[in-house]
Amino acid sequence: SLTAALIVAAGSGTRAGGALPKQYRPIAGTPMLRRAYDAVAAHAGIDMVLVVVSADERDRAAAILPGAELVAGGSSRRESVANGLRHLADRGVGRVLVHDAARPFLPPAVIDRVLVALDRADGAVPVLPVADTLARGPDLLGDVVPRTDLARIQTPQGFHLERLLAAHAAWPAQEEATDDAQMVRRLGGRVVLVQGDTMLDKVTYAQDFDAADARLAWETR
Ligand code: C5P
Repeated sequence: SLTAALIVAAGSGTRAGGALPKQYRPIAGTPMLRRAYDAVAAHAGIDMVLVVVSADERDRAAAILPGAELVAGGSSRRESVANGLRHLADRGVGRVLVHDAARPFLPPAVIDRVLVALDRADGAVPVLPVADTLARGPDLLGDVVPRTDLARIQTPQGFHLERLLAAHAAWPAQEEATDDAQMVRRLGGRVVLVQGDTMLDKVTYAQDFDAADARLAWETR
């Protein structure tokens, strides 16, 4: 059966500031969405790529990704994923990788690890340990949260398509979910952790763009 990648790029991206939603902004000349797309499209284990974009930005996305299959997003990440999944039904897809456009630097080794893990699990999620001290409370000066039982959850998250479809169908409409692994686990699915990568850190704020520009300039000097 086939393996699909679903890139979710339908967010407003407003925390980064600027006129363009962040996924369309360039990093060292190449739009973030294009970088995420190229990373999955170039991987030999991925047979098809779908990109979920806001209906308002369809023309912009089509200009950046000529020939790519675009699907309209929803008002939350969860709805955007669900819209994308609907377009994967009845196309011979067995496994799907869901990836945030907000993570434009996707090392192929992470895709390898996720795909290998799917041989023995319903889902696979890249994670990293938490390095910083975390504090809790309204003024953020409350308890320090122990880090040993915490992880940073990244994407791409891989699933057997039937499992992810079932999890989305069963999820309460009024409840938000920020990733797909929690949804599959809720239905009793077995999700395993694989090693993530700091390259996958989300580009969220204006200074993240500056840091990404600087990193690429360093690497390609
Ligand atoms: O806002 P945040 O960075 O958490 O969003 C994670 C990913 O989900 C982004 O790539 C964003 O474009 C996507 N998203 C979406 N549809 C929404 C909200 C977010 O595709 N309604």
